[in-house]
Order: sequence, then structure tokens, then C-alpha cells
Amino acid sequence: MLNLANIESAARDVLGQSSYDYYASGAADELTLRWNVERLQELRLRPRVLRDVSTLDTSVELLGRRHALPLLLAPTANHRLAHPLAEIATARGASLSGVGMVLSNGSNTAIREVAVALGSAQALWFQLYVQPDRALTRDIIWHAEAGGAEALVITVDSPVDGSRNRQARSGWRLPEGTGHPNYLGRKQRRSVVNLEEVRPLKCTWEDLEWMKGTTRLPMLLKGILNPDDAELALRHGADGVIVSNHGGRVLDTVPAAIDALPAVVERVAGRAPVIFDSGIRRGSDVLKALACGARAALVGRPYLYGLAVGGAEGVEHVIRILRQELRLAMALTGCRAVGDLDRSFLW
Ligand SMILES: Cc1cc2nc3c(=O)[nH]c(=O)nc-3n(C[C@H](O)[C@H](O)[C@H](O)COP(=O)(O)O)c2cc1C
Repeated sequence: MLNLANIESAARDVLGQSSYDYYASGAADELTLRWNVERLQELRLRPRVLRDVSTLDTSVELLGRRHALPLLLAPTANHRLAHPLAEIATARGASLSGVGMVLSNGSNTAIREVAVALGSAQALWFQLYVQPDRALTRDIIWHAEAGGAEALVITVDSPVDGSRNRQARSGWRLPEGTGHPNYLGRKQRRSVVNLEEVRPLKCTWEDLEWMKGTTRLPMLLKGILNPDDAELALRHGADGVIVSNHGGRVLDTVPAAIDALPAVVERVAGRAPVIFDSGIRRGSDVLKALACGARAALVGRPYLYGLAVGGAEGVEHVIRILRQELRLAMALTGCRAVGDLDRSFLW
């Protein structure tokens, strides 16, 4: 399996159609899902020659910690569909490959167990879906803090779930007994969506300020596309923003995340780290995102496919491929250190 596309096709066989559709699908007509990948592919590289690239530095600093790669595992729910050890296997894979992990609020394993499997050498961040009930939101934050999270990632792009037609058509349902322990046994429906009614969750900038007051953890907002929101995020105390369209799963026909990145980077102007996700399928995509100003990137579906095919080692294999492709792209564009990347590396 030489690239992530190979691993995805193998995963499709292992997972079966409906679980595969749950992981792979996007919202509505899946246009944004496709653009995420295509727009990264369309960016052309602009190499320099005869530079000393005999040693390559892929490390970055994020929230006070050095990361060997500018890459973390994105928060994705329900790893048990891919592997019986669920997020434990994922965490072992992250640990083997030396990358941090963002644990989804919708994971099937309690954060404390994930922290043990990951070990302290890698960063563990916890992704939170704000709940209708503040007491539950606060308790989840405290539970994450006590469980070993170093940062909170608040996902702000989905006051309602997206409507994933492909997933609905395939008849996907969460298998019996697949639990979500990081909701502390008090999982609430965040929003109501059915044919008669769409009733989204109320969550505003005020809630963010309130959350800031409940915890000492740094807070990143995930799902920022508009530079005005990036500005508000910083004004309300966010310690970083994640430019993401949720892998095309929420609102179809928003632009590819890579097209939204430069304006957000410009507005943030170095005041906080900007992280990128949605559509990374090659190490050269990581290089492109960093050239557009991201400090690091998250990868979502590809490691889920690795998990399905080979458990922890499958996750490790996915990261190994991305690492190798990133190093190749660096050497061949004349980039010695990822910290040197800027728009001059793009045609
Ligand atoms: C199956 C699946 C489940 C996801 N679950 C969550 C989640 O629980 N919380 C969240 O913030 N994002 C979630 N995401 C979005 C990812 O964090 C990330 O934004 C996206 O996968 C990046 O795009 P990529 O898959 O093209 O790399 C999920 C994505 C997938 C594919």
C-alpha cells in the first residue's frame, strides 16, 4: 500500500458499504468534499534548486510543545466501527508514529484510557461539542482536563448536524452497544433535525467566554472559514483557530478549506496559531497548507482507513507515508525546515 488512496480502497472492503459510507460521505451533493481534495491538487509547487536539503526539519512548536511533524490526528467519532480496540488502537498508532491526537467528544473510549495508550510523549487534545445544558458542558470540560487533555478544541461549525444523503441512503446506524463515554452517560441531543423541523443548538460567543472561565486549558476553535470569525475568536480569548469545513460533512458548497486559509492567516497575523484540515491526502498537501500559512495540519479520514485495515500499525503506516511524502516534497522544493514555508513555495 504505497499511498493513502490504496489504503482507502482496502478499507472499503474491510469496513463494508455502510460503515465505509459513514466515514467517507459528505453533506448533500458532496461538492465541498470533492473540492477539498481537488483544490489542494490544483495548487502548483514552485521549487528552488541547489539549496542544502541534506538535513530536513519537520518539527513545529504548538501550544508550548514541540511536535516532530506538523500533523495531528483530527477528531473523528466512532472508531469502533473500524477496529474492536477503537481509539485505543488509534492512540497506539499515534504514539508509534510520533504525532498528537485530537480525541473526539463522540469517541467510544474514555479519555483517561486513551491518554494511557498514547503516552505522554505525544499531545492529547480533546474536541468538545457544546451541550444544551451548561452543567454537562462544564463537566465534560473538567473530565477532559482530569483525563489528560492539554487543550480543548471547540467545534463551532455545526449547530446542527449536516445532512449526509449518502450515509442516510446506505441505512447506516450506530451498532448496538457502541458507547460514548466522554458524554459521561448524559448525552443530550444537541439539535433536532427531521423532515418537519430543524431546531439548531444555541451557542454563541458568550458561551465561549463562559467556557474560558471554567478551565485553564488552552482553547482552539475548529471550523473557522470566515476571517471575521477568526478575529472574533481571538477577541473572545481563543488560543488558536482551525480552518476546516469538517471534511465537507456539514455545509455543502462552502469553499474548499484550502481556499479559505490565506484570508484567515492574514487576519490572524501571527497572533495565534492557525491549523488547517480538510482534504489532506498527500504529504505535499501538508506542505501546501503550511505554505499558505498554517502552523500544522490535521488529517481525518485517511487514518480511519488505516485503522480499519491494520489497527495501530495501519494508523502508523498512514502517518509514515505522509511523513515520507512531506520530506520528499521539502527536499524537492528546496525547503530545509517547515518553518521556512511561505507562499514563495507555490507557483
Ligand atoms: C467519520 C468522521 C467523523 C468525524 N467526527 C468529528 C467529530 O466528532 N468532531 C469534529 O470536530 N470533527 C469530526 N469530523 C471532522 C474531522 O475532524 C476533520 O475536520 C475532517 O475529517 C478533515 O477532513 P479529511 O477527512 O478530509 O481529512 C469527523 C470526520 C469524519 C470523516
